[in-house]
Amino acid sequence: MEIISSTADLRARLRGEASIAFVPTMGNLHEGHLDLTRIAREHATLVVVSIFVNPLQFGANEDFGKYPRTLQTDCDRLQGVADMVFAPTERELYPQPQQVTVQPPLENELCGAFRPGHFRGVATVVLKLLNIVQPQVAVFGKKDYQQLYVIRQVVAQLNLPVEILGGETVRAQDGLALSSRNQYLSVAERTEAAFLYRMLVGMRQALLDGATDHAVLERTATKTLGARGWQVDYVAVRAQDTLLPPQSDERKLVILAAARLGQTRLIDNLEVCI
Ligand code: PAF
Repeated sequence: MEIISSTADLRARLRGEASIAFVPTMGNLHEGHLDLTRIAREHATLVVVSIFVNPLQFGANEDFGKYPRTLQTDCDRLQGVADMVFAPTERELYPQPQQVTVQPPLENELCGAFRPGHFRGVATVVLKLLNIVQPQVAVFGKKDYQQLYVIRQVVAQLNLPVEILGGETVRAQDGLALSSRNQYLSVAERTEAAFLYRMLVGMRQALLDGATDHAVLERTATKTLGARGWQVDYVAVRAQDTLLPPQSDERKLVILAAARLGQTRLIDNLEVCI
């Protein structure tokens, strides 16, 4: 497996490759990332994984400084799964003092409302990476459901010639969605963290059983989480295709939640077809 840090070298190496699948990551890879890489492998002869902790998508008081950087271990895990790792430095990807950015949808909605600038940072770095790698297929996890939506919108609206695939969320045995941020949790918080998924499963069941008042479901979930010590950013039932509040005849729904346990902000979601 090749590890490349310069854009020029990567471009030279990829020139003439007919079939490239790409998995952008911020490293600290877990089974969820490896799963996305396996999906990528099914769609191309060459699989490129990028590892870059993108400063543009972290707010001033967020965890950019402490985000785990584990390049060597990540590369070891990717042996036999990916063909190439692109691991640029910050200076390589953002050489200019003023970076042109992409203003995506959801800037002020859901996670966008609680993480100002986050989706702009994601959209910008993903657009840059797609332009550098120029894959036919790129794979993102459904765990970051809003991110996947934003990226699909950027690709469609800016006419990028790449197919975006969503990989299912990989969960621990107790249901907690795998995330690099889970390691910030204390032992007690880690046990409680699995409740977020149990709550989503309960909400999905209520929708399948015919509940139609989404506001009541959202309020009840928020109260339940609050009573267990979570600080809730939002629990929201939305339409899968638009992430807007659903019309009454909408069948394809997704329940989205973001909440903090101590210092750690967790997100999760569950699709429901009623
Ligand atoms: O999901 C992530 O790890 C990041 O948001 C991404 C897509 C690699 C952009 O930095």
